[in-house]
Amino acid sequence: MKRNKSWVHRQNNDHYVKSARKENYRSRAVYKLQEIDEKDRLIRPGMYILDLGAAPGGWSQYASKKIKPGGKLIAIDRLEMTDIPGVEFILGDILDEQTFHQCITLSGQRQIDLVISDIAPNLTGIRDTDQARSLELAKSVVDVAFKILKPGGGLLIKLFEGSEIDAFRNELTSKFQRVMVRKPRASRDSSREIYMLGCGYEI
Ligand SMILES: C[S@@+](CC[C@H](N)C(=O)[O-])C[C@H]1O[C@@H](n2cnc3c(N)ncnc32)[C@H](O)[C@@H]1O
Repeated sequence: MKRNKSWVHRQNNDHYVKSARKENYRSRAVYKLQEIDEKDRLIRPGMYILDLGAAPGGWSQYASKKIKPGGKLIAIDRLEMTDIPGVEFILGDILDEQTFHQCITLSGQRQIDLVISDIAPNLTGIRDTDQARSLELAKSVVDVAFKILKPGGGLLIKLFEGSEIDAFRNELTSKFQRVMVRKPRASRDSSREIYMLGCGYEI
């Protein structure tokens, strides 16, 4: 992928990029999940987790370590992801019904404790377009989560701030006992991304 000079400069000087390289994580995004996890105690041994939009794999690396012993992590991305020990990877689009069926097979029909989604559309830089695409994808993530989560389960989902965020939050509030918004330090101030966390799924 072609990167411009300012992107390369920013990457080389970013504290989280440096830490990720040092700790052998595949992405700086891992520190967003870590911060939320440390605050909200999301990930525990034995959990079944579904990681949507998982590549290159930072979140999967982190979560797959924390669910040991006994847990299972299923990761999905439409891009290839290099193997991570203990992670079951599905190459596919989350909008595709077949991907969902593969996921059910891999989970052994067991319901999922936690769905984590860092899915992002290809950004155009046009604010309204990016917001609309992100929201559309987020709605698909919620559809998947509602089909596969066990009662009491959780959902962590990335969104881009915009006018429809409140309606989205209301939808989650109708299905989860608690809904919170998180903006971890590793999420750049210049980015409009936020994370919404729903805990205590009620069918
Ligand atoms: C920001 S990256 C995820 C980074 C990841 N959390 C990590 O820690 O390495 C977003 C990912 O979402 C994936 N994605 C976007 N739309 C998708 C879709 N419809 N189905 C599956 N994956 C998708 C992209 O291919 C990309 O790899």
